[in-house]
This record gives sequence, C-alpha cells and structure tokens, in this order.
Amino acid sequence: MLEVSNIDVYRGETQVLWDISLEVAAGERVAILGSNGAGKSSLMGAIAGILPPAGGKINFKGETISGRKAYEVTRFGIALVPEGRRVYKEMSVRENLEMGGYVSRKQRRIDQGMEQVFALFPVLRDRRHQAGGTLSGGEQQMLAIGRALMSRPELLLIDELSLGLAPRITKEIYQAISGLELETTVLLVEQNVEMALSHSQRAYIMESGRITRSGRSETLMADDDIRRAYLGL
Ligand SMILES: Nc1ncnc2c1ncn2[C@@H]1O[C@H](COP(=O)(O)OP(=O)(O)OP(=O)(O)O)[C@@H](O)[C@H]1O
Ligand SMILES: [Mg+2]
Repeated sequence: MLEVSNIDVYRGETQVLWDISLEVAAGERVAILGSNGAGKSSLMGAIAGILPPAGGKINFKGETISGRKAYEVTRFGIALVPEGRRVYKEMSVRENLEMGGYVSRKQRRIDQGMEQVFALFPVLRDRRHQAGGTLSGGEQQMLAIGRALMSRPELLLIDELSLGLAPRITKEIYQAISGLELETTVLLVEQNVEMALSHSQRAYIMESGRITRSGRSETLMADDDIRRAYLGL
C-alpha cells in the first residue's frame, strides 16, 4: 500500500534522513522505533507531504505521492496525528473534529464520521462542547486521532502515541486503535518500545536518520540487542 523508496530528506541545509526505504501492506500495523533525533518525525512529515524528500520516491496504492502538498496527500487517504497532538485549543471538540472532516463537503458524511469517532472514544461525546485546550492529555490524544480519522484515511500515521500519557490511557487508546485494524492501516511512531512492538506486526528501527534494523515485532522483542538498547533489560 505504502512504498517509501530510498528517500533523502533535508531540514534546511541539514540532511536528516538518508536512503530510507520501507513498505506497509494494507491492513498492517507497523511501528517505527528509535531514540530522540533519529528522524522518526521527519519520516512521518515526508510521507504526509510536509517535508518533501530531496531524493527517492514515495508511492501510495501505486501512485506517486512524494512531491505533492500535504492537503493532496490527505485526499489520497493518508492522515497524520502529529507529534504533540496539536489540537485547536480554543475550538470545541466538535469543531476540532469538523476541521478534520473538511475534505468531505457533505454534512452527512461529517456527522457520520463524528459518530464513529464518538463510538471509538465515548469520552469525546461527553466533552463535545468543551474547548480542546481544557481536555486532559489523554483526551487530547483521542481528539487528535479522532480528527485524523474524520478524513476517513486508509493509512493513519501516528507520531508518538503514548508520549506523556499514563499507562492506563495509553492502553485504552491502543485498544481503540486495534479495533480499527481491518479498515485502517496504521504506521506508528513510538518511544514506548514494548507497547509499540506488542501492538504491531512489524517494526523498523531508526538511528541517526537511517533504518538500521527491521523485522517482525515478535522477533525484535525477543532480540537481546534490542532488549538491551530499548527495553533496558
Ligand atoms: N525544524 C527543524 N529544523 C532543523 N532541524 C530539525 C528540525 N526539526 C528536527 N530537526 C533535526 O532533524 C533530526 C531528526 O529529528 P526528528 O524530529 O525527525 O527526530 P525524531 O526521531 O522524531 O525525534 P524525537 O524522538 O525527539 O521526536 C534531528 O537531528 C533534529 O535535530
Ligand atoms: Mg519526533
């Protein structure tokens, strides 16, 4: 479904990604792991059309999306939940969700999308008139995911799902996302390596702007080097 082939990405003058290739098949859940500054967010930005690659190519369902603008990439069926969530703090929960549904001009589609988000995260229904900025961290993450889902993506990119969240909330959000798996493909950046590996089928490990390892999540979870480096075992 998604094929990233040999991309190089710069931030200003500085190269931050080197020759990155990865694949995600429809229906898969794939994790990207790596320490701070490894380039995980830059990779998400490149896929989402925010940081155009200087070299290489990104294809989605057989069409080239690298070089397209972020709003065009959204229309192809890719949505990004950005690092730090970035919900609109002054807007209500409802309005935040409507912003995510802008690709559809039909009010009925927007209402249906909103119902699906409320079914996934019932607390958002209770808070629908409340300003985004007054929600807890976990609720803001649910809102950010809900907003991304409003465009009905086939591929959902989530950058740092669990950052700053209590384990119980993290688990709740992972469970909700597991329920999506049949319709939505998920590419997930996580710093909680154990959580990421137990909720994905495959993973890629990044170091200093390159992919250094990849494989089945179970295999990586059992790997001594990875356990030492990322799980502190
Ligand atoms: N706006 C920017 N301008 C210039 N360099 C940047 C910018 N944002 C990030 N970088 C650099 O790009 C490299 C990759 O950063 P990136 O944010 O992609 O890493 P990351 O793996 O997401 O890190 P983290 O785990 O801290 O979120 C780092 O060396 C970082 O310093
Ligand atoms: Mg990041």
